[in-house]
Amino acid sequence: MDGTGWKDFETLESYIAKEQSLHPQSRGVFSNLLRRIGLASKIILSKAQRAGLAGVLGSFGRENIQGEQQQKLDVLANEVLKDTFRWMDSVAGMASEEEENMIQLPPRASGENRYLVLFDPLDGSSNIDANVSVGTIFSIHRMLSSDGSARLEDFLQVGTKQVAAGYVIYGSSTMFVYTTGNGVHGFTLDPMIGEYVLSHENIRIPDVCKCFSANDSNYHIWDEPTKRFADIVRYSRSGRYAKTTSRYIGSMVADLHRNLLYGGVFMYPADTATGKGKLRLLYEASPMAFIFEQAGGAASDGSRRILDIEPTGLHQRVPLIIGNKEEVELYERLKRGESA
Ligand code: AHG
Ligand code: MN
Ligand code: MN
Repeated sequence: MDGTGWKDFETLESYIAKEQSLHPQSRGVFSNLLRRIGLASKIILSKAQRAGLAGVLGSFGRENIQGEQQQKLDVLANEVLKDTFRWMDSVAGMASEEEENMIQLPPRASGENRYLVLFDPLDGSSNIDANVSVGTIFSIHRMLSSDGSARLEDFLQVGTKQVAAGYVIYGSSTMFVYTTGNGVHGFTLDPMIGEYVLSHENIRIPDVCKCFSANDSNYHIWDEPTKRFADIVRYSRSGRYAKTTSRYIGSMVADLHRNLLYGGVFMYPADTATGKGKLRLLYEASPMAFIFEQAGGAASDGSRRILDIEPTGLHQRVPLIIGNKEEVELYERLKRGESA
């Protein structure tokens, strides 16, 4: 600041370039991929912001592979992302929550198609019509094979193998938050210049359990350890939980973004009737687990670290508990039948 109000700033572009310059052998392929996700998110934002005017609110009238109603904006965001990656030499394939099958891109002569992108194009889409925050989640893996042809096993890699993960939250401001395994960094979109500007460098989750986030109407289908956990965190009016408050938006990106900044725990446990969780391992749980671990937190399915789970299918669902380490460990202890 020089008295004029001017303050130099770092954009997503310059930050990525700087990170890349730490790896002199890098040819910038991966950085370009991250930049393009930033661009895609601005296109999605432009559609979402005019949704009520442009007639793109409401249901698309079709179900996705998971049997969920697709919203028009789900389909639109999915198309934007597919078109973003389709022509990139660095991308060998994609997988999306809104697509039944993986999308294989033809091997390129350049031999540079080394990456796979997996995404939840629009998270929290059932909230769109009410103008509630939604998001985009992405996860990037390197191909296992070197011949440039993406196979199912390339997509079904454990979360620890992610080379990057992130989300964009379309809220009262728009933020791009990502990690490449070197901390978690957040950028806020400055609408006046159309750029993401570094606003939250090296985010660390505060070690306080300020927020408890779960869909409480599912209490009756939770198992006993899960009910006990919820009761401890919500109702102990002393010690660590004296000031814990319940906060649940119903958009995972928004719930987790808030908890990442304030401290807390989010859970979407298994339904005792089906034994299954709701959230998808590859598009939701795994990228968010990478981010939370990088920010000092933890993520588990109740007995296993999310990032260690070997995926068995593209659309696999897992129970998820994610947030501060202390709460995730408490939940795992209760699930093992140990005392709190
Ligand atoms: P999506 O909109 O991508 O299908 O994800 C919805 C998810 C997630 O955003 C949220 O945490 C959860 O569903 C909410 O589910 P409930 O409505 O069952 O609470
Ligand atoms: Mn989602
Ligand atoms: Mn979605």
